[in-house]
Amino acid sequence: MKFITDLLSNIFMTAFSQCGYDKALGKVVVSNRLDLCQFQCNGALSGAKQYRKSPLLIAKEVVAHIPENEMIGSLEVVAPGFINVSLKDEFLMNYVQEMYFDQHMGIPQAEQEETIVLDYGNPNVAKPLHVGHLRSAIIGEALKRIVTATGRKAIGDVHLGDWGLPMGLVLAELEDRYGENLPLLTTELLNEVYPCASKKSKADPNFLEKARTMTAKLQKGDPAYQETWKTMVALSVEDIKKTYARLGATFDYWYGESDSSKYVPELLEILKAKDILVESEGAQVVEVAKDGDKQPIPPTIVIKSNGSEGYATTDIATIIQRQRDFAPDQIWYVVDFRQNLHFTQVFRTAQKAELIPSTTKLTHLCFGTVNGKDGKPFKTRDGGVMQLSDLLDAVVDCAYEKLKSSDNAEEAAKKETAEKIGIAAIKFGDLISHYSKDCIFDLDKFMASEGKTGVYLLYVVARINSILRKYGGNGNTKLNAVYSEGERDLLLKLALSGNAFLGAYTEKSPNILCENAYQIAVAFSKFYHDNRILGETDPSKRSSWISLCTIAKAILVKHLDTLGIETVDVM
Ligand code: ARG
Repeated sequence: MKFITDLLSNIFMTAFSQCGYDKALGKVVVSNRLDLCQFQCNGALSGAKQYRKSPLLIAKEVVAHIPENEMIGSLEVVAPGFINVSLKDEFLMNYVQEMYFDQHMGIPQAEQEETIVLDYGNPNVAKPLHVGHLRSAIIGEALKRIVTATGRKAIGDVHLGDWGLPMGLVLAELEDRYGENLPLLTTELLNEVYPCASKKSKADPNFLEKARTMTAKLQKGDPAYQETWKTMVALSVEDIKKTYARLGATFDYWYGESDSSKYVPELLEILKAKDILVESEGAQVVEVAKDGDKQPIPPTIVIKSNGSEGYATTDIATIIQRQRDFAPDQIWYVVDFRQNLHFTQVFRTAQKAELIPSTTKLTHLCFGTVNGKDGKPFKTRDGGVMQLSDLLDAVVDCAYEKLKSSDNAEEAAKKETAEKIGIAAIKFGDLISHYSKDCIFDLDKFMASEGKTGVYLLYVVARINSILRKYGGNGNTKLNAVYSEGERDLLLKLALSGNAFLGAYTEKSPNILCENAYQIAVAFSKFYHDNRILGETDPSKRSSWISLCTIAKAILVKHLDTLGIETVDVM
């Protein structure tokens, strides 16, 4: 389906060029004063200088050239030269009706095939998921669904942290404790071992050295280390999958950093053939600094002096794998801002080595940290790192407490609903601001039943469900007319959804979809408040209103689903 803004722009462009002005001046945008009009064209103002004419004159001339048509209901020239446009109700209504029946719900689909790999989630083996991993999973999942919704191929890879020093630290600690006689490994044991080993490595350089050597040996394929490591990975993945299932984060691939290892020999060959691998203090590195860099960019370490592969190596070798398996047009890395330098090094190395075509775009979507209300990184009450599952439990408990008072559901159903509400509250609370900002974790704010919250949006969907339940179905999904101002506004907000989806894709910004979903919810609430839908005695009005409820729900749910947010039947 074509955007209303594009359809209107076509009409205006023709008029501008008929009057002898630059066609491009005819661009029509959504009004920023919706109380005055729905759309506006500001071309006369931009053209005034170019044509040395008063903008008011240009605007009047253009408007006189716009023929009566099926779209435009009112046209008004306003000083100093704005053209205000509103649609015919009939057109608006039919447009929204058509969106509902469109297989993509009016969301514009990419015209060319495009594949985007999304690297997100990024949990680490042997370390429990912490709140920092929450954002990558939430933002990455929303972006992946936005890519799919706009007709592109999205491939999600969790890129498990399973190959670096943390592995050696755990192996070293296990060896210190148990020697050859390893006990049965459990998640609990691993969760306890890693923090202990990490602390020890900071105080004891010998232990750190031992862990480094063990990491290198593991990477070279030492059979005993490999065996323990495989058990560690399996245990961690099982645990991580449970938390991701709660969050509704779904991955096409569960590759780990370790899976890139088999591409390292090839990587080294390419780097050597291109003569860009140099030796520096025993390590093998690639120089990536460029003239004009605002900060010094140190060389990328490909092989460390002890022979092990570093964090950058795994990312660079993974690019070879992704190019071979998926030939992506873009790769998006949803990783926090602290890894900015790392990705600069990785991207530059991959480009210098021509591991990908020069047209392939590599983007680091660097998000901010999860902070508490005090603006400091979110911690547990005793100051430790908050584990993700504990945080999810806390929010879900809060949702359950609120539901407990309403006694219209079974206990088990309440638990299930509380889980969905809690997760929706966190996700919407995170996604409503641009990802680059820090996320302030404020439970009361996230759980508020009014305002830009997941709870409010779920509530509006549940309200529509309740109307449709009482009515006994979805109606005939046919809109008959626009009977009230509230409906007109709701229809407009629904009609602009395609623009919001496209905006969310091009700006890589799920917050645009959150905002549009909120606007729809508010407009629906007003429509509901102003009209007695079920009590309406005029049958065609009532039927049209029921249909509007059905359509509004479908479009709202499409927004939420694309954000990775599940809705509930009753609340
Ligand atoms: N696992 C890493 C961490 O928790 C993040 C990995 C980010 N993704 C990547 N391709 N390097 O810090």
